[in-house]
Amino acid sequence: MRIHVVMMAAAGLGLSAMPALAQATLKDAFKNRLLVGVAVRPHQFTGANATQAALIANQFNSITPENVMKWDALQPRENEFHFEQADRYVDFGTRNGMFTIGHTLVWHSQVPGWLFKDAAGNPVDRETLLARMKKHIQTVVGRYKGRVKGWDVVNEALEEDGTLRQSPWLKIIGEDYLAKAFQFAHEADPAAQLYYNDYGIEGGKKRDGAIALLKKLKAAGVPVTGVGIQDHVSLTWPPATMLDETITAFGQAGLKVMITELDVDVLPARGHNTSADVSRNEAADPALNPYTNGLPANVQEALARRYAELFAVYLKHPGVVTRVTLWGLCDGESWLNDWPIRGRTSHPLLFDRACKPKPAFQALVAPRR
Ligand code: G3I
Repeated sequence: MRIHVVMMAAAGLGLSAMPALAQATLKDAFKNRLLVGVAVRPHQFTGANATQAALIANQFNSITPENVMKWDALQPRENEFHFEQADRYVDFGTRNGMFTIGHTLVWHSQVPGWLFKDAAGNPVDRETLLARMKKHIQTVVGRYKGRVKGWDVVNEALEEDGTLRQSPWLKIIGEDYLAKAFQFAHEADPAAQLYYNDYGIEGGKKRDGAIALLKKLKAAGVPVTGVGIQDHVSLTWPPATMLDETITAFGQAGLKVMITELDVDVLPARGHNTSADVSRNEAADPALNPYTNGLPANVQEALARRYAELFAVYLKHPGVVTRVTLWGLCDGESWLNDWPIRGRTSHPLLFDRACKPKPAFQALVAPRR
């Protein structure tokens, strides 16, 4: 009881809101080995949902903002910055002593319409876009200097074949936009960790492209700390051996590895597609939404085994893999309920729709010996 009260106080919550908290915790289970993080939404860090806020403070020692630090949220119109939600996010992380992450500075998605255009609606030139990038990064990173400990600086800059994505950043600025983004972020907070973050880099050509890109950046003296492997995975892909080899390869390139957006999709998919591109949007089909009344015991067990398998791989790389962040707290709010098909009942996380711990949680905090 006493411990729970301390935790509630830490989360800035009153006794009346005290939820039943799980006894074992993820952060203790991996203490001194991995930071364990979670992506959070406003109702969690503002305290509007006190139960979830307390669960987060109890279980995790790192947080990532799922949406409130994206460009469209922070600077929807040129030079008009909106920091209210981001400030509250950073306050929550700071108050709870969490390793607080910023997500994300340079991405092609969730950007406002004005960013790549001039007043007449034509594409801006290189110097204008570089100036906009610099202003945004220095304003945002500068504001949270010393409190946001790590930034996803460039997000999802690679195509599936490992070449650079044909984004407006690349087309307007050219290949050095990545180096510039890291440089601006480093100038704004020299102590912050700076990451390149992407999905689908667990294997294949995209992995090779990521390794080549990061080696090139490091060789040129660009201040990149590490790579974020998002790890939006399924029950079977990537195989553990593939993931293990990939982490080894990044480590050998002198990079820290963060698992930045972990979730395990248990729903059936159309064909084999390892892309987590947010623009995918497929037609509904009841056959692809089989667990609307809950997850059958055998699938719960498969999910638990998969989480245990993934964490066993991460733990094989001490000093290289330093953080694992779950992409959401409870199943009911996962992005996978609406992607790539809207309105499905997805079960990819460690806490169920009632925010109760699942067998997968138990497999991590109390592994069977
Ligand atoms: O903010 C609007 C709100 O005003 C509006 O009423 C509502 C109606 O749908 O939409 C809200 O915006 C949504 C936004 O999340 C904030 O909730 C967008 O529609 C929705 O598309 C957006 O989805 C997010 C997605 O990134 C796109 O930014 C997901 O929550 C988030 O989980 C997902 O996260 C990404 C990572 O940032 C990068 N890696 C892949 C990962 C999964 O796609």
